Amino acid sequence: MIPPRASLFLLGALAKLTSGATTTATFTQPAAAPTDTSSFYVGASNGSLPYTATVPGLVFDRFIQVWLENTDYSAAAAQSVFQTLSQEGITLSGYYSLTHPSQPNYVAAAGGNFWGLASDDEVTIPANVSTIVDLLDAKGISWAEYEENMPTDGYLGDNFTNPDGYTYYKRKHSPLVSYDSVNQDPARLARIRNFNDFAYDVGNNTLPQWFFVTPNMKDDGHDTGIAYASDWLNYWLVPLLQDPNFNTARTLILLTFDENGNHAINNEIYSILLGGAVPSNLRGTIDNTFYTHYSTLTTVQNNWKLGNLGQQDCNATLANVFQFVADATGYKNNGMTNGTNLPLLNITGTIPGPLNPDYWAPWPAPNTSCVGAGGGFFWSK
Ligand SMILES: *[C@@H]1O[C@H](CO)[C@@H](O)[C@H](O)[C@H]1NC(C)=O
Ligand SMILES: *[C@@H]1O[C@H](CO)[C@@H](O)[C@H](O)[C@H]1NC(C)=O
Ligand SMILES: *[C@@H]1O[C@H](CO)[C@@H](O)[C@H](O)[C@H]1NC(C)=O
Ligand SMILES: *[C@@H]1O[C@H](CO)[C@@H](O)[C@H](O)[C@H]1NC(C)=O
Ligand SMILES: *[C@@H]1O[C@H](CO)[C@@H](O)[C@H](O)[C@H]1NC(C)=O
Ligand SMILES: *[C@@H]1O[C@H](CO)[C@@H](O)[C@H](O)[C@H]1NC(C)=O
Ligand SMILES: *[C@@H]1O[C@H](CO)[C@@H](O)[C@H](O)[C@H]1NC(C)=O
Ligand SMILES: *[C@@H]1O[C@H](CO)[C@@H](O)[C@H](O)[C@H]1NC(C)=O
Repeated sequence: MIPPRASLFLLGALAKLTSGATTTATFTQPAAAPTDTSSFYVGASNGSLPYTATVPGLVFDRFIQVWLENTDYSAAAAQSVFQTLSQEGITLSGYYSLTHPSQPNYVAAAGGNFWGLASDDEVTIPANVSTIVDLLDAKGISWAEYEENMPTDGYLGDNFTNPDGYTYYKRKHSPLVSYDSVNQDPARLARIRNFNDFAYDVGNNTLPQWFFVTPNMKDDGHDTGIAYASDWLNYWLVPLLQDPNFNTARTLILLTFDENGNHAINNEIYSILLGGAVPSNLRGTIDNTFYTHYSTLTTVQNNWKLGNLGQQDCNATLANVFQFVADATGYKNNGMTNGTNLPLLNITGTIPGPLNPDYWAPWPAPNTSCVGAGGGFFWSK
């Protein structure tokens, strides 16, 4: 047996050899294991999340999203860790990001709209704008975000520089923190947690039913490239897939990217559905259905019958439910696949909205008459 550190070193060295110019750094393991705390993660944990009873979903009881950064489909597909993981899950060959740059995609995955945003500048979104956590809280479904190298829980700063002088954490990659409905509520803010908390939550088997994972600016590939992010996956995600406190028979995991790298082509990103909830006969298969980041909302809404936000999560063009989930619940998707004429989602800055200074439009009221994958508008459900 090669000891884990040595094999990681070897992987780092191989990635460096094969990927050429994009890899600028050799992967450095941030902790002894993904289940361990580390002084590198800065703030000491405040203990694990309280235990809450599992609210059963129709197809899965836990949904985990792990977002990496800025990579074209073909570049991810060339990495051996993606090839290996694709054999254990469903590869989504029609999954698109929504726009450029990073931040609007994260914000959209929380609130069902990117509000015209086309920058990574710090924004705040009024308290009467709902997000997925309003829907989850209404049903008692526990949730959290885990932000690597965020120094303290619910940290509101734009970024954080570690004692080594490197800025590993940036707020622009945190989907919920910009929503006043979250950042003005201390109980909710405490659920935006760091990786030392993750270690306690996984160790004490208190990981929530919905959570979002943001690796730091190096580990997600943003500052380093896909070879480095692949090494991080081998260090972090691959062993956790075998950990019953993380991946149960009822866990669905989405591994994806915020956006692609080449803005001159449509915004296709490499995504895989993993975890015990993926039916064994579908492991190693490819699903060509057209998905976007809004599909993360509709799949969760469909699974727990949560209703909808009345935003783009209710736009039938953009928000197909992951097909194996739709098949199990009887939900009908729109039939669009990567073979059909898809909307261009590489358009930046020309979508009107309240966060677009060049094309301003008021905050869009939710469409309360829309019926989506989880039923009607969530207030009236
Ligand atoms: C469980 O959480 C407590 C604090 O809540 C912590 O002291 C302990 O180390 C954690 N256990 C594991 C295995 O992570
Ligand atoms: C999806 O369709 C586009 C446009 O036809 C094509 O360039 C791309 O290679 C397709 N993606 C996959 C994974 O086949
Ligand atoms: C834990 O709570 C203490 C006291 O409120 C705080 O100083 C510390 O930053 C917190 N740690 C984290 C990781 O948030
Ligand atoms: C971090 O945030 C501060 C305050 O907003 C800003 O001045 C600085 O440029 C930011 N640094 C990085 C590396 O983003
Ligand atoms: C978006 O991608 C299409 C090709 O799929 C390309 O024709 C177009 O120029 C791109 N748009 C931008 C703004 O780069
Ligand atoms: C739904 O999405 C399509 C594709 O992006 C867009 O053209 C359309 O305007 C959207 N509909 C609404 C009601 O926002
Ligand atoms: C939210 O509040 C603002 C005023 O702060 C108001 O203009 C807007 O219509 C409200 N939006 C909704 C969806 O209630
Ligand atoms: C709201 O949703 C309904 C039902 O899908 C649709 O008929 C209507 O056009 C939508 N309204 C707006 C303003 O998009």
